[in-house]
Amino acid sequence: MKRINDILNDPEYLLCVNRIRAAEADRIYCRHDPAHFLDVARLARIIALEENFDADKELLYAMGLLHDIGRHTEYENGTDHAIAGSKIAEKILARHGFTKTERETITEAIEDHRAGSAASPLADILYRADKLSRNCVLCDAAATCKRFQNGEKAFLLY
Ligand SMILES: [Fe+2]
Ligand SMILES: [Fe+2]
Repeated sequence: MKRINDILNDPEYLLCVNRIRAAEADRIYCRHDPAHFLDVARLARIIALEENFDADKELLYAMGLLHDIGRHTEYENGTDHAIAGSKIAEKILARHGFTKTERETITEAIEDHRAGSAASPLADILYRADKLSRNCVLCDAAATCKRFQNGEKAFLLY
């Protein structure tokens, strides 16, 4: 997992994490912090193992740790964080030895992670891991959370 540790120590990665933290300081809804990134990475790995999907562990972790890394741009200028995040992820992944094919797989999954309609098996895993990572059943802000405005039901367990 050397490449994953390299991502976690990447100066641009850490800068983005801190910008997101500052932008979400007063947020009452779920935050997009390192705990969320790691939850999504681990859930993606669990889903892949349980469903016998042959995915490289480092790809799953890179995808989870980077999927919301563009979130600060959405607060700063309204850019969709999935689009912004895939561009930032591409630069970070390239710095740490991920091949062009690996980078494309990861950045496509990041770009699609809000859609719900899976463009690839990995994008589908990321989408589900992201949803499952949130503890909505016990959340005090659920009544006004936009996640539930379209009738979606809260669920706790995978
Ligand atoms: Fe997201
Ligand atoms: Fe997320």
